Amino acid sequence: MTEGPLEFRRFRRLRRTEGLRRLVRETRLSVEDFIYPLFVVHGRGVRREVASMPGVYQLSVDQLGYEAEELLSLGIGAVLLFGIPARKDELASEAYDPDGIVQRAVRELKRVAPELVVITDVCNCEYTSHGHCGVVQDGQILNDPTLELLARTAVSHAEAGADMVAPSDMMDGRVLAIRHALDRAGFVELPILSYAAKYASAFYGPFREAAESAPAFGDRRSHQMDPGNRREALREIATDIEEGADAIIVKPALAYLDVILAARERFDVPIAAYNVSAEYAMVKAAARNGWIDEQRIVLEILTGIRRAGAHMIITYHAKEAARWLQSGRLTAAAEEVVTR
Ligand code: PBG
Repeated sequence: MTEGPLEFRRFRRLRRTEGLRRLVRETRLSVEDFIYPLFVVHGRGVRREVASMPGVYQLSVDQLGYEAEELLSLGIGAVLLFGIPARKDELASEAYDPDGIVQRAVRELKRVAPELVVITDVCNCEYTSHGHCGVVQDGQILNDPTLELLARTAVSHAEAGADMVAPSDMMDGRVLAIRHALDRAGFVELPILSYAAKYASAFYGPFREAAESAPAFGDRRSHQMDPGNRREALREIATDIEEGADAIIVKPALAYLDVILAARERFDVPIAAYNVSAEYAMVKAAARNGWIDEQRIVLEILTGIRRAGAHMIITYHAKEAARWLQSGRLTAAAEEVVTR
């Protein structure tokens, strides 16, 4: 075996030590890629855990200072805001109220932590009495009348000081409507992160508890995408980019890694993946039962999403993953000192 041509390849050579493995690793997780979702509610001193999402809280505006401080100390530089309004109505009035919950939260975050990137989710479902993403007439979700509400919401988020708006409603033409409205209002520099490929997914279940946004009747299949379709996702993304999206989201992440990869190969805009609520809840449930090694599972999931081609990851795991990444580095450094 020592002379002549090799008979087989020895991949294990580069896997022998952590030092070698680290050197040849193709995908690295970085806390800089994480976006942490926040659920903001009215009231004072509210810090209410979401039952199906252990570790995730509904927070009142006065809690955001502590939250921002914790996130920044962990190296997490961006948040995605969702609001739970005081009152819901047919036309989602609080969504575009200058004194609405998200608008207040944005102002507070920009006051206490101006360097934190504040992204706002633009949708009506948390704000409508029927829980749908748009204007409803005769049981139908109307597309074009909804665009007007979305555009007003995006502009009001911009006026409050948001760094980026993220429309998640999946109405046709909303990126164009929002871009025009922002430009007219003088926000030509404000980027749009569009949920371009968002599927009608059962993986949003726990989120709807957190955001109190479950539809009162019917479902979201008339506007969110059918889980069987990938080519259609590419058309959705291409269209959103043409309409003015600066970056796009694929959502959910795990059952749609092929969509992330296809998007990465086809488009040059930054891509975010949304590691959604049930993806988080399933990990938490299994971990609580002692069935999985939570830390390794989470880091492996996040690495997989990055490897598929997502640049940014919107994830409820952001804080714990940041801690693990930090302590992993410390441990590795400490080991080096010891072995030297
Ligand atoms: C809509 C919105 C949803 C999520 C993000 N934005 C729910 C939906 O479309 O029903 C889901 C996120 C998650 O499950 O973590 N405003």
